[in-house]
Formats: sequence, C-alpha cells, structure tokens
Amino acid sequence: MEITISNLQFSYPAGVHALRGISLEINSGEQVAIVGQNGAGKTTLVKHFNGLLQPTSGSVLIGDWDTTKYSVSKLARRVGYVFQNPDEQLFCKTVGEEVAFGPKNLGYDKARVESLAKDALAMTELSEKTETNPYDLSATWRKMVALASIIAMDTDIVIFDEPTTGQDAVNVARIAHVVKTLRERGKTVITITHDIDFCAENFERVIALSQGKVLLDGQANDVLGQEEILATTYVDPPQLTRLGKRLGFKQTVRNQEEFLTALKG
Ligand SMILES: Nc1ncnc2c1ncn2[C@@H]1O[C@H](COP(=O)(O)OP(=O)(O)OP(=O)(O)O)[C@@H](O)[C@H]1O
Ligand SMILES: [Mg+2]
Repeated sequence: MEITISNLQFSYPAGVHALRGISLEINSGEQVAIVGQNGAGKTTLVKHFNGLLQPTSGSVLIGDWDTTKYSVSKLARRVGYVFQNPDEQLFCKTVGEEVAFGPKNLGYDKARVESLAKDALAMTELSEKTETNPYDLSATWRKMVALASIIAMDTDIVIFDEPTTGQDAVNVARIAHVVKTLRERGKTVITITHDIDFCAENFERVIALSQGKVLLDGQANDVLGQEEILATTYVDPPQLTRLGKRLGFKQTVRNQEEFLTALKG
C-alpha cells in the first residue's frame, strides 16, 4: 500500500511550525529509515500516517484513503504505529491480552485473533511471557510487547518510532529480526532512528529530515555517503562508511560485508 504525502505542512497549536512542506512517496513493501536531529519533525511526520495528527495544509494518502477523511481507528487497519515510549501504549494486565487487543478491536474473529497474536508473540520471542504483566517486565521486554501488539494487527504499513533506543545488542538483533521478517512478508516498514548502524544494516532507503523538511532521500548508500549534508542535521554516517571514505573507496560502504568487498577489490 502506497503512502503519498503532498506538500505537507503542520503547525502545533502552540505555534511550532514542525513540518514545512514535505512531499514523499513510499511504495508498498519498502523499508525506510527516517533520521535527523532532535526536533527535526520525524515523529510529527509519522503521526500523520495514522491520523494522530492532521495536516495544517497539504495531504497524506494511505493507499486511496485521505487521512483527513478517515478516523484513527479506521486508519489502524492500514497503519500500525509503535510509540517511541511503550508506556504510552501498554495498558492490559497481561502480555497475552495486550497483544490480542489490537486484532480483537479490529473485529477479527476469535481464531484469527489467536493466530495473529500467537505469530506476533513468536516473532518477538514473547511466547513464554503471555501471562506476565507488562509492567513486571524490563523496559527492554516492554518494548517488545509494544512491537508485538502492533504486529498482531497485521497492517500493511508498520511504523517503529526509535525501536532500538536503550536496547542492548541482543535486543537490537531481535528487533532487526522483526524488521527482516516483516520485509519478507511484503510489509512496508518505516523506522525513525538515531541508531545509524541499525539504519545502515537494515534499511534500503533513508530519508533525512532537518527543520521540518526533507534534506536527503534515496538509497541508503547514497544518503549515508553525504557526510557534510548529514552533519547539518547532526547525523554521523556509520564509522565504517567514514573509514571507507578516508581509505579512498570509490563506493560508499555501509556494513562489514561491503567494507571487506571494497577492501579486496
Ligand atoms: N505536542 C507538541 N506541542 C508543541 N510542539 C511540539 C509538540 N511535539 C513536538 N513539538 C515540536 O515540533 C518539532 C518537531 O518535533 P518532533 O517530535 O516531531 O521531532 P523528532 O524529529 O521526532 O525529534 P526526536 O528525535 O527528539 O524525537 C519540535 O520543535 C518540537 O519541539
Ligand atoms: Mg521523535
């Protein structure tokens, strides 16, 4: 399902002009990372995709749905959004209930709810924790519950806002596995991240925002190769990318495999 954003502007009631004319197309099944300095407008942008925010001007289409014409609960059939802070999202007494809530709320029958919840729990390695209260889990696992509860809704578009913040290496690998699995299923995955290595390892397209505008948008290698421009929105390319550049590699590299290939070549 395509996302079409045309000349989107948004001002918060307090007067902050957070988005200043954004036009983007995100195709079905794309894996996109959104990067940029604090306050660049990343969260504000993605909150337009599920109707949590409405454009001050311009438009956002999710498939053929104009977000101004559909409620948040309708848009939840097409777009799943995992909040930056899981504690804003979780409210059930057990992990199992939490993960089943979304699909139940979409009106799916019992068998489908069970199978979607079971699948999402397995993908996030929570199958053994269904009876636990989310608030008895560590912040790391609460994040996984937040992911699972959105994945269980089986939307075409899944948005993660800063999924790896405060996560250890094992959990970052778990989250990368979730992204990979969703990609294999043809889902569109949009991830806001300050974790440039996670971005470089897992996303083919990178959009850099700065002060409410698109600064760069393209293939990950092309975008991550623009060190000076990225610096204006306080994003550093991965260390390997910068090292490759200093070694005079012709191609921009963004992970160990690419680095080693360029080194041999
Ligand atoms: N609820 C709000 N009311 C008023 N201004 C807001 C609100 N939320 C965000 N802003 C402002 O809008 C601008 C964009 O904020 P946004 O949260 O979208 O940035 P971000 O790129 O997600 O930043 P971060 O990386 O810190 O999460 C900032 O200037 C921010 O202070
Ligand atoms: Mg944010």
